Amino acid sequence: MSAAAVLPAVEAAEFRRCMRSLAGAVAVITCGEEGARTGLTATAVCSLTDLPPMLLACVNNAASAHPVIRRTGRFAVNILSEAQLPVAGRFAGRDGAEGEQRFAGAFWTHDEDGTPLLADALASFGCALEAEHRHGSHSIFVGRVTALRASAGSPPLLYHEGRFGTFAASA
Ligand SMILES: Cc1cc2nc3c(=O)[nH]c(=O)nc-3n(C[C@H](O)[C@H](O)[C@H](O)COP(=O)(O)O)c2cc1C
Repeated sequence: MSAAAVLPAVEAAEFRRCMRSLAGAVAVITCGEEGARTGLTATAVCSLTDLPPMLLACVNNAASAHPVIRRTGRFAVNILSEAQLPVAGRFAGRDGAEGEQRFAGAFWTHDEDGTPLLADALASFGCALEAEHRHGSHSIFVGRVTALRASAGSPPLLYHEGRFGTFAASA
């Protein structure tokens, strides 16, 4: 008997509605090299191991960054501060900007492999693509961290129930 036959059906819309309650830190995943860069806003980013330092990122197959990450074997995860809300909007495609256009209006450096790193991100992780796991509409990209930048101290940008916000510590 298949798993589908014994598990109760869960509607995709209901699943999405419930997942909206999972507050997430907002990151921008970047890839490509000067002149041919792209990226996307993402919350599906997670630490994997610290020995060796590895993380994972879930990227839609349809995202412009998806084939670039596969081809170059490189990507970076940049954790946004609250002040970088405009960057989040741009890399989510909200103003129609694509590819290189998304990098306008913010200051960028790059790691040794040329992968773009956002200056003043709370943290930036330059990664070598270690593995890819394909599941339906998305790939889980596993990255081995080869470059680190940190500029902590500012409030983080968070996303919850379809809205951007920031963190308030409990008393
Ligand atoms: C807050 C937020 C979080 C997102 N998280 C993800 C994510 O984790 N993975 C993903 O593939 N797309 C995610 N998206 C959607 C992409 O940012 C969006 O589809 C982007 O435009 C894809 O890039 P493209 O226009 O180059 O295809 C998120 C969007 C927002 C606003």
